[in-house]
Amino acid sequence: RRIVVLISGSGSNLQALIDALNTPALPDAQITLVFSNRKAAYGLTRAAQAVPAIPTAYLALQPYLKANPGKTREDYDAEVARIVVRENPDLIVLAGWMHILSENFLELVDGRKAVVEADGKETKYNIPVINLHPALPGAFDGAHAIERAYEAFQKGEVAHSGCMVHRVVKDVDAGEPVIVREVPIEKGESIEVFEERLHKVEHQIIVEAAKKILDEVKPQDS
Ligand code: GRF
Repeated sequence: RRIVVLISGSGSNLQALIDALNTPALPDAQITLVFSNRKAAYGLTRAAQAVPAIPTAYLALQPYLKANPGKTREDYDAEVARIVVRENPDLIVLAGWMHILSENFLELVDGRKAVVEADGKETKYNIPVINLHPALPGAFDGAHAIERAYEAFQKGEVAHSGCMVHRVVKDVDAGEPVIVREVPIEKGESIEVFEERLHKVEHQIIVEAAKKILDEVKPQDS
């Protein structure tokens, strides 16, 4: 099975996926492309250093807009979709991908719109997209979720936090959860300690969710 992983940063979740390849945690799978919207993302180095090395690509929004006058953020998203679907993946994983993808991206990967290939041929894809989010469903959507959950705990507003992998739909962090795991916040612990524990759980659920979705996808025609 073919996986494309989209990253923006350190790529520790990408590393968890790489480490799970060819193990019972994620058998019969390969990551065919790691795509980043930041050139300096360390995850690109992780991909290059994997054995065998994983191809990488990056395209950042602002340079794209500068180089293509008249193009919009939606055009950028469509370009990312075209780069990704060219891999013909069975699964797209957003692992620390810090750019909100517009409907344009989703329409091209879920078959609502056809992708026009370089030779003019139109192809419709239907590729599941999952995203990792460091909070529980319905709580702390969007950025700085870990900090916001930690602060809410200190104020007695929440008893715990957690993380989830969910299917990607138009609304941010709102798609159907694939795996949800609670992570307690211990009284008196620093945010750094909480964050580290939460990240360890993320590394587990990203692999579990990828396997779960791939198991659901019908085997490809061979
Ligand atoms: C994770 O906490 C993810 O949930 C968040 O960004 C972080 C990515 O970490 N949205 P990494 O790049 O996988 O190390």
